[in-house]
Amino acid sequence: MPSNRTLLKTSLRPAWFTALAVAVALLTSSGVYASQDGHPAPAPAATDITHDHQHDHGHGDENTDAAGGFSTDRLLGWLGGLHPTVVHFPIALLIAGLLAEVIGSRAGRFCVVLAAISAVVAAGLGWLNGGLHWVDDDWVTTTHRWVGTGTAVWSIAVAWLCLASYREGGRGLRRWYLMSLGIGASLVAAAGFFGGALIYGIDHLAW
Ligand code: HEM
Repeated sequence: MPSNRTLLKTSLRPAWFTALAVAVALLTSSGVYASQDGHPAPAPAATDITHDHQHDHGHGDENTDAAGGFSTDRLLGWLGGLHPTVVHFPIALLIAGLLAEVIGSRAGRFCVVLAAISAVVAAGLGWLNGGLHWVDDDWVTTTHRWVGTGTAVWSIAVAWLCLASYREGGRGLRRWYLMSLGIGASLVAAAGFFGGALIYGIDHLAW
């Protein structure tokens, strides 16, 4: 009977290639925001076109003040800036995982495990980006913060159920796995919606 460890190893074998692709994507996308002198420039001002969302990244001013040089605050601020890039992975992978399971593709397991890992990374970077507090000045950010955090926690449970349901004798868990995956896909869609609302306004999907 394959153990959870073996299943995890088999599921993650193609992940080395994906990790390489992700690294390339991150490197190239960070260049989008780089100014000519090589230092990260602020992303385009979203507030011009949206609601007046402003957040305190909670790492002090030195992130933007000091040109060059290293500080932990600067590093954490920079990492937080990767949040908008990384969020695409859990959104796409959880939904792709659900679709794959529905059509009976083996890719589902791979997508779901990678979705859980990327959701945890995305949520961690979200906390660095949004600052370390429970409640924000506006309800959209607070809702996004907690739906996003819930998505990460939930997707770990989904990945566990996924691996357990693929083990010999785990068929009984399959129904629970598929149900939790459906909820996970809805949660990540909601997190994505509220994330988009932070940038483009709450009515960004209005018809
Ligand atoms: C899996 C969980 C999460 C997903 C899928 C997600 C998704 C998103 C999306 C789609 C955006 C808009 C990106 C853009 O268009 O530029 C966004 C922005 C944002 N998210 Fe998340 N998010 C997650 C977790 C979190 C958490 C836990 C926090 C904690 C506070 C957070 C804080 C933020 C902040 C502050 C922004 C605005 C970024 C900026 O102004 O550059 N997110 N998120």
